Amino acid sequence: MKRVSFAEFGGPDVLRLTDAEVPGPGPGRIRIAVRAAGVNPVDWRLREGQKLGAHPVELPSGVGQDAAGVVDELGEGVRDVEVGDHVFGEGSSTYAEFAVLTAWARMPGSVTFQEAAGYPSVVETALRVIREVGVRPGQTLLVSGASGGVGSAVLQIARDRGITVIGTAGEANQDYLRGLGALATTYEKGWPERVRQLGRVDAALDLAGSGVIRELVDLTGDPRKVVSIADLGAPEFGVRFSGVAGSMPDALATAADLISRGKLRIPVEKAYPLTEAAKAHADSRAGHTRGRRVIVI
Ligand SMILES: NC(=O)c1ccc[n+]([C@@H]2O[C@H](COP(=O)([O-])OP(=O)(O)OC[C@H]3O[C@@H](n4cnc5c(N)ncnc54)[C@H](OP(=O)(O)O)[C@@H]3O)[C@@H](O)[C@H]2O)c1
Repeated sequence: MKRVSFAEFGGPDVLRLTDAEVPGPGPGRIRIAVRAAGVNPVDWRLREGQKLGAHPVELPSGVGQDAAGVVDELGEGVRDVEVGDHVFGEGSSTYAEFAVLTAWARMPGSVTFQEAAGYPSVVETALRVIREVGVRPGQTLLVSGASGGVGSAVLQIARDRGITVIGTAGEANQDYLRGLGALATTYEKGWPERVRQLGRVDAALDLAGSGVIRELVDLTGDPRKVVSIADLGAPEFGVRFSGVAGSMPDALATAADLISRGKLRIPVEKAYPLTEAAKAHADSRAGHTRGRRVIVI
């Protein structure tokens, strides 16, 4: 099969489309014929050699953790899906014709493979940070960097739970945020004052890592009411950095439920063929993705 991989850390040009053995699923896992793979910032962070989490990357390495596709082989003990089912989920080396998933759910009938590939990691992250920041129905959540993949999920999950959101995004995404039910302002100079004018803030999320932790603490009045997923300096302000992926085992089922109820839809900004994975990484790294970018197979 063909897969995207890299044999050295570096820029997008270290990515190669290579031949590889079709992976076996192993116990408790499934193999899918990948139809689409989600492009997440963690994919290019690992390719660059950034140290994230406990597991060092072994070279050569495949790329990608999110995918949607058709179940092709079941590992020992798997009983909740059958060969031929359409699923979306998380695994490894998903920018490939075949990939092994460690977590999955059946795709709701209403979504395409391209859309479905964009949900797994961002919904897991969104559910995790909403839980960790402790915001309740009837309260107001400020989201810095609200128009990306994680932000799009946070806004819609919060709306479904009766939480008011004030989101910051670029000028081009103000109407996008309002369309997801949020109050919106830009992140240009003077944003804390504009946020104050939009309402009282009970809790805040930093999803962009743009150096705003001090302001988020000021606006909430309590560092325990702020969580960051993108600023490693957050703990210096007494603010939690949330980084343990996979801690929300029901995330995929929750995503499927929200999608089926028409409460969650993350747009695909752009789809790229496997041969253009480097372009997808460069575009994601530029930092202005609305929703998700995906690789199509
Ligand atoms: N720790 C974890 O568990 C975890 C999990 C998932 C992601 N992450 C990290 O969280 C970040 C967001 O992930 P993502 O997938 O949502 O990224 P994404 O889809 O690439 O979105 C990035 C967003 O950042 C916004 N942005 C750019 N500059 C900004 C600024 N100065 N102020 C506020 N917003 C700004 C952009 O909005 P405009 O286009 O409107 O400018 C864009 O929508 C990434 O750094 C990723 O690595 C961490």
